[in-house]
Amino acid sequence: MKLGECSLPNQQKMRVFQLPQRRELKRTAESSSPSTSFYSMWDAIARFAQEIRASDFMAEMIRRRDGYGAEGVMGALDCTTLYGLTRWLRPAVVVESGGFIGMSSAFILKAFADEELATAKLYSIELSQDCEQGALIPDELRSAASFIAMRGRIEDFLKRSQLPPSIDMFLHDSSHSYRHMLWEFRQFWPRLRDGGLLVSHDVQMNAAFPEFMANTYAHERKTGRRDEQRTSHYEWGRWGYLGFAIKKTSR
Ligand SMILES: C[S@@+](CC[C@H](N)C(=O)[O-])C[C@H]1O[C@@H](n2cnc3c(N)ncnc32)[C@H](O)[C@@H]1O
Repeated sequence: MKLGECSLPNQQKMRVFQLPQRRELKRTAESSSPSTSFYSMWDAIARFAQEIRASDFMAEMIRRRDGYGAEGVMGALDCTTLYGLTRWLRPAVVVESGGFIGMSSAFILKAFADEELATAKLYSIELSQDCEQGALIPDELRSAASFIAMRGRIEDFLKRSQLPPSIDMFLHDSSHSYRHMLWEFRQFWPRLRDGGLLVSHDVQMNAAFPEFMANTYAHERKTGRRDEQRTSHYEWGRWGYLGFAIKKTSR
């Protein structure tokens, strides 16, 4: 039995940490706090992260990274969280900015493989012409159908409408200037579906991520309490240097 599955008496398999379906989300919103209903995701991500941290895959990725030079790639702790988030979400379409030599890409692709997401796609955008894009990704994870390497500025790909209009997950890991981070969050948040994930690396660098998230809250005028109907995320948080937020579309 795989982690995240439990056995039911009728032998059906059920994802314990599955994203609630729309109907369920509506019912939950009426009966309990949505943030409480998403609380279990932290446990799920911690388990997935622990699993990958202890794996041969992790040892192999660290060996590859050290052989290539670790400068500029996502650190091991954040890679395990990224892997956990991807497995938890089970996305079909992911876009990442700042693909570089592919440390983060490898963990996203490994999560696709471990969840048996045969048709999932990762669009990985890298500005530099000098780096060997995706070089760290093991061959068995690098199928042309799942890893789509795009060379150029993310701004230009967006301008030319070369990215999918609707996505399940966006990872920011390009320029970590306040202005650029905020710009990417604002560009990709509207493309996320209900329940989709915005993930950002290096959120500790400036105030862009918390500031962006602060703007997804709505408050009741009289009490100042969070207005759950108008707040446009289900859950958000930070683990290590990774920030993440689950998009909620207004209904
Ligand atoms: C921190 S590195 C990414 C590390 C990578 N995610 C990994 O784990 O291996 C940041 C990368 O973003 C790229 N970058 C910076 N600005 C960009 C932009 N506007 N569009 C696309 N890529 C950009 C840089 O060339 C650099 O290689």
